[in-house]
Amino acid sequence: MLLHTIAEVREQIRIWKKQGLTVGLVPTMGALHEGHLSLIKKSVEKCDKTVVSVFVNPIQFCPGEDFEKYPRTLDADREMAESAGVDIVFAPSAAEMYGEGHIMSNDFLTYVIPPFFYVNKLCGKSRTGHFDGVCTVVNKLFNIVQPDFAFFGEKDRQQLIIIKKMVKDLSIPTEIIPCPIVREADGLAMSSRNKYLNEQERKDALVLKNILFNIKSCYNSGIKDTEALAETAFNFLKSCHSLEYLEFRDKNDLELKKTADKDTIVFIAVKIGNVRLIDNISLEN
Ligand code: PAJ
Repeated sequence: MLLHTIAEVREQIRIWKKQGLTVGLVPTMGALHEGHLSLIKKSVEKCDKTVVSVFVNPIQFCPGEDFEKYPRTLDADREMAESAGVDIVFAPSAAEMYGEGHIMSNDFLTYVIPPFFYVNKLCGKSRTGHFDGVCTVVNKLFNIVQPDFAFFGEKDRQQLIIIKKMVKDLSIPTEIIPCPIVREADGLAMSSRNKYLNEQERKDALVLKNILFNIKSCYNSGIKDTEALAETAFNFLKSCHSLEYLEFRDKNDLELKKTADKDTIVFIAVKIGNVRLIDNISLEN
């Protein structure tokens, strides 16, 4: 069923909780693809009931980002979610979530602010306030749905690490289930933003996975020094690629790594034309 209000969702959750059923939540911004679907399938498998939220959250977009043009495909999203066995698609308006006039200013809204150490790097560096917006909306969705389990993709690894930290620090009674990155046949990590790429940019976009997969194979062949590993990226970068970051960090606390090991995640962000893409790979196994 498609619900638009917090009150309707709460009422349904109350009934399920009374019946002793477990609830899974998959938070999304819609434009669902196979990546989202993998999270949804995991939830449907693990939980008695699954809620998928579809909300393009205005407070996690920075000025000049793609909030207005972000793809909105609610009918198709609903169809995809319900065919996969989802019980509730929750698609609130911004006014429902943040009040009439949905004031997008932290002067007027209570925010959940993740620790500075987690947000002053990687995507947080160029997207000031982004993770405040993410943590605030996710916390709000948790309060509305009260899920036993919530499913997040490793595609947005920094987001996943920050959400896990928030859940731990605020003693939120929800277990976070990480889900592996789903890729296109040629290796490009699936993303709603891939729709922005033209034919040439779609080809150029393979640079992210080429760099990451190559680093992993160099690591497996014995190179552990992260500076040496990072240097191998330059064989792949062309003038059409603007590298924002390529960093080696710890999978739990995002600390920088000088020597790569099984707890290392390699993070990359590249701008191709006007489209900013991110990807990452774990060096474990
Ligand atoms: P969105 O970009 O729609 O992603 C929703 C969830 O799907 C996230 O947990 C994301 O990591 C996961 N996902 C996206 N592409 C994936 C892929 N190729 N493989 C595996 N998982 C993938 O992330 C957000 O929305 C928002 O920030 C949100 C958490 C909903 C808060 O507004």
